[in-house]
Amino acid sequence: MAGIERIAVVGAGLMGHAIALDFALAGFRVKMQDKNDASVERGFEMVRSDFDRMVKLKTTTREKANAALKKMSGHTNLSEAVGDADVVVEAVFEDLKIKQQMFKRLDAAAPKGAILASNTSSFMPSQLYTMTSRPDKVLVAHYFNPAHLIPLVELVRSPETSDATVETMRGLYEGMGKKPIVVEKEVIGFIVNRMQIALQREAFWLLDNGVASAEDIDTGLKSSAGRRWAVAGPFEVMDLAGLDTLVDASKAMLPHISNSREVSKSLTDAVEQGNLGTKTGKGFHTWTPESVDAVKQRIAEALVELERWSKKDAKE
Ligand SMILES: NC(=O)c1ccc[n+]([C@@H]2O[C@H](COP(=O)([O-])OP(=O)(O)OC[C@H]3O[C@@H](n4cnc5c(N)ncnc54)[C@H](O)[C@@H]3O)[C@@H](O)[C@H]2O)c1
Repeated sequence: MAGIERIAVVGAGLMGHAIALDFALAGFRVKMQDKNDASVERGFEMVRSDFDRMVKLKTTTREKANAALKKMSGHTNLSEAVGDADVVVEAVFEDLKIKQQMFKRLDAAAPKGAILASNTSSFMPSQLYTMTSRPDKVLVAHYFNPAHLIPLVELVRSPETSDATVETMRGLYEGMGKKPIVVEKEVIGFIVNRMQIALQREAFWLLDNGVASAEDIDTGLKSSAGRRWAVAGPFEVMDLAGLDTLVDASKAMLPHISNSREVSKSLTDAVEQGNLGTKTGKGFHTWTPESVDAVKQRIAEALVELERWSKKDAKE
């Protein structure tokens, strides 16, 4: 993307390190910042291990990974990290006070023309731009984990974000092969997490009402609609099914679909019992370190295959 050369990523955690390595692989010079040396080093450990996995999966070569690593530097000093940046992507803890404070500091430390983007999952850009003197250059750039393998970035604009900022970010991401979409009106959950939560609410309804086991619900989605949704969106699928059929199906089913405003009982019970998922070894499934690695590998391999397929599809 013409004009954008230097990227700064603030917060080198799960998301920040992957966002940084993705920019570096695309050829940008990337400064990655975190609070202290240990956090920066942990970020680089994750970067190196992701590069190893990518080389193994043949999504990049060792030479390209090494070249990308050379484009990255680690920092604890914020001004040093963002002082010459064209674009800053913030990926610190999901805490509004911390993020607002950070945007104030970024506004003071980054060049006046720099775009300030937040990878927040739940806050609105209008909760962040008020802390800056550049509301037109503030937006949300919402990635999905793992950020270097999932192409989507939701660009969420506030009423103050300028068209030029949105178009610059869209061009930047398109140029590096990602799939940016623009959320024109800020809403909680943006686009994809709203749809995801709606689906999870129904999965909990099925589980809580004894309709099927967690295993069978997982298999049901993975082996049917999930596969289709990776290659055709809901509106494409609806057009293929026939809209008249959809009216009938909606009339029959909508009155029976969950519209709960409460968090599911099986979810709150699991958390109360200390069952937090893979990180404690038990959630809706039982996990060992090996089975966690295996499922992560399965997801990474399938995402890589889908990416290859989508690139081939775009060429045809
Ligand atoms: N985890 C996900 O799947 C996911 C997906 C999309 C968006 N997000 C969003 O990305 C952001 C980061 O989430 P994460 O999962 O990477 O969290 P994380 O806890 O892995 O990483 C956060 C990092 O920010 C650093 N940090 C905190 N305060 C800081 C400060 N003042 N200055 C510099 N660094 C600071 C921490 O040391 C840590 O390394 C959050 O806003 C989250 O909502 C997360």
